[in-house]
Amino acid sequence: MNQKARKPSSAPDALWESARNSVQLGNRLRKQGRLTEAEASIKEALKLKPEFEHAHNALGVVLWGQGRLQEAEASYRKALEIVPDYISVHNNLGMVLKDMGKLEEAAHSLRHSLRLDPSYARAHYNLGNLLSAQGDLEEAEASYCRAVELKPDYVKAHNALGIVQRGLRRAGEAAASFRRAAEPTISKLRQRNEHSISLLYTKNRESELTRLCDLHGSDKGEIDSNGNPYPWPSHTYTDFYELIFGQKRTSVRAVLECGIGTNNPNLVSSMGATGRPGASLRMWRDYFRNAKIVGIDIDRDILFSEDRIDTYQVDQTSSQSIHNFLEELDSGMVFDVIIDDGLHVFRAGKTLFEGAIDRLAEDGVYIIEDVQPSDLLRYDEYFGGLMNKYYVRYICLHQPRDRFSDNSLVMITKT
Ligand SMILES: C[S@@+](CC[C@H](N)C(=O)[O-])C[C@H]1O[C@@H](n2cnc3c(N)ncnc32)[C@H](O)[C@@H]1O
Repeated sequence: MNQKARKPSSAPDALWESARNSVQLGNRLRKQGRLTEAEASIKEALKLKPEFEHAHNALGVVLWGQGRLQEAEASYRKALEIVPDYISVHNNLGMVLKDMGKLEEAAHSLRHSLRLDPSYARAHYNLGNLLSAQGDLEEAEASYCRAVELKPDYVKAHNALGIVQRGLRRAGEAAASFRRAAEPTISKLRQRNEHSISLLYTKNRESELTRLCDLHGSDKGEIDSNGNPYPWPSHTYTDFYELIFGQKRTSVRAVLECGIGTNNPNLVSSMGATGRPGASLRMWRDYFRNAKIVGIDIDRDILFSEDRIDTYQVDQTSSQSIHNFLEELDSGMVFDVIIDDGLHVFRAGKTLFEGAIDRLAEDGVYIIEDVQPSDLLRYDEYFGGLMNKYYVRYICLHQPRDRFSDNSLVMITKT
């Protein structure tokens, strides 16, 4: 919350105390993804103190997270009516306006927050994103450079800088920015995980698993980027999977994957309107010739069943939903491979892990995909307390020409 915001009241006041507590609770609920409850808690605060600027800001953040952009804009504007120089609200308003497609107004808000505080690294980063969306790559680069000058371990800004440098056809500088994006996370991971392997390779253009990605339309890898049904570059996971699963193609009997690949653009972690639901399930089915493949997803509309593939509706953020699904399966069924390619946030990953790990075979492999740098550190913290039960490896796959931010895996086996 911003330093220049008004203190609610200097006089001790039980109503202010309650309002502050409700906003704090709302912020905690939002971080847990419980947006409806967060909204209710913050609105409680506003009933008590309608002029509480932090509450209007917090409400704006929740509404923005729910995609209710106009309401979010109204909340931020209300906060600014109360405290016109509330720096972080100018930044937040800029981000909402950008999502609304009001790019000029968004730039105005972000620049206003930077006039109030030129050392505000996040606003420089957001301005960079806006300029990049407007196609002004040189100015975007300058904003990202300012952000990383102010905050040298700003992973997202290094990453974004690499993307614009790649767009400006300066491949060497882009690769250096991507490497810098990785460094802060990797050096923090080294504090607990002192061993590492540097694995250098030339891409195998004959890889069977990668070929199956192209055939079915999964973004876990690609041989030919032209054949993909989605607009972003693929991950390079199949390069690693060939390594660990190549000898197990006939012995793997059961695979569970969370994330069937919805093509509903309104759902979180969607593959986009052109995505092909079931792509990776078919890829696993064709790769592991003797395996049964089970897919789970929150989106009921993409469930299907075909040769050696069954799918179920499951919300991986709900222990109850995971429990109900496992109850439906044969009680003796264990999986040799479990892949979490679902929501891609730490809490959801942890909930699925805790709910499903008992169904991993003793010599099975559990993999969490698309782990963001900040989540790598959260998993490291979490698994640090479980070292007697699991071996955990953090696999950061580097692509020569692409982002670091979501090409990492957490791989867990039982001790
Ligand atoms: C990246 S896609 C999966 C892509 C697929 N594995 C592939 O490679 O073709 C992520 C999927 O996670 C699903 N998802 C999002 N939130 C979820 C949740 N809370 N529980 C279960 N699945 C969820 C989305 O509906 C989406 O289908």
